Amino acid sequence: MTATEAQTSRSATARTPLMTLTNASQTFHTKAGPIKAVDDITLSINPGEVLCLVGESGSGKTTAARMAAGLTHPSGGEIAFGGKDIWSMDKTEFSAFRRSVQYIHQDPYASLNPTKSIQAMLTAPLRVHHMVKGKREAAARAAELLTQVDLTPPEQYLSKFPHQLSGGQRQRASVARALTLGPQIMIADEATSMLDVSIRISMLAMLGRLRDDLNVGFLFITHDLAIAKYFGWHGKTAVMYLGRIVEFGPTPQIINSPEHPYTKALIEAIPEPDPDHVRVQDGGSLRSMEIPSLTALPSGCTFHPRCSAFEEGLCDVTVPQLTLVGPAQTAACLVAARDHGVVAPRARSDERGA
Ligand SMILES: Nc1ncnc2c1ncn2[C@@H]1O[C@H](COP(=O)(O)OP(=O)(O)OP(=O)(O)O)[C@@H](O)[C@H]1O
Ligand code: SF4
Ligand SMILES: [Mg+2]
Repeated sequence: MTATEAQTSRSATARTPLMTLTNASQTFHTKAGPIKAVDDITLSINPGEVLCLVGESGSGKTTAARMAAGLTHPSGGEIAFGGKDIWSMDKTEFSAFRRSVQYIHQDPYASLNPTKSIQAMLTAPLRVHHMVKGKREAAARAAELLTQVDLTPPEQYLSKFPHQLSGGQRQRASVARALTLGPQIMIADEATSMLDVSIRISMLAMLGRLRDDLNVGFLFITHDLAIAKYFGWHGKTAVMYLGRIVEFGPTPQIINSPEHPYTKALIEAIPEPDPDHVRVQDGGSLRSMEIPSLTALPSGCTFHPRCSAFEEGLCDVTVPQLTLVGPAQTAACLVAARDHGVVAPRARSDERGA
């Protein structure tokens, strides 16, 4: 390779995000018929970056996260890591990918082996992957990992079993386990939603420290925009509704200048402690609390039965596509697009068939 070729290759690598989901879809075949739990989403995450995925229950967050982690094969589109489609990787590449991307579940109790002490849980992967030389080094590394997640002094926790820890301590232990193999991306799926508020805040602070100190990227999943605002302020936020991304952009823009009525409604639901903070309210309230079924999606914009900005003859007919509504901010709303001078292409309302 010539010097110029090497430089071109380096700059191409620098431009390629670490993880990308490109037009990724997931269809489940159920008794009620096929459902598109995730429909054509495109996202990327870089080291040290936070991408928040926000939406109500059933919007497809976990399905998207499981595809990103390589736990399920997408029914359409591509998941790539380091520029390579994970499903065309050879065995060695795929296992390196699986080590680089770690999943933290909502319920740590369900993901921790009840029969293993914390020390055994942390040292086993270190030894299997030859990341330490012997028992003593493994124990020292386990203690270091516990310190990184604020379980201190570590000696107090190494011999404990999951049932001897509190919910917050268990979740910290599962983060320590996720750190054993030096991940580049962590997928935190509602990782703090089962914790009390004060524990949640300290847990988020700890995860933020890992992001900064270890340059770990996060796919951070939450149904609560307030948590996304807190953890992902310097990152990006994607808002999902019925399997699709309806708004995407830098988190401060999503919070301060939302364009999609669904995002506005989610923001309205955030309790606002600062009375000086004036929030955009127009178009934010919902016409209905009922989330439509994925087996019988509404025509046109699937949000139209709930949307306060609904326009008959437009929203129930045309499927909105993500369009630019601000600097690096996109929204899938026909009215927002029109307000920004974008004429939406007329798409058939049945184009979301599974
Ligand atoms: N294995 C599966 N088989 C059939 N349907 C599924 C399967 N997994 C998920 N679904 C459906 O796909 C949709 C999206 O589910 P998903 O768990 O991704 O949503 P979510 O946004 O993570 O919700 P929550 O906030 O409740 O965790 C739901 O309607 C769910 O019932
Ligand atoms: S397209 Fe219409 S129904 Fe859909 S979010 Fe925009 S205003 Fe509401
Ligand atoms: Mg989920």
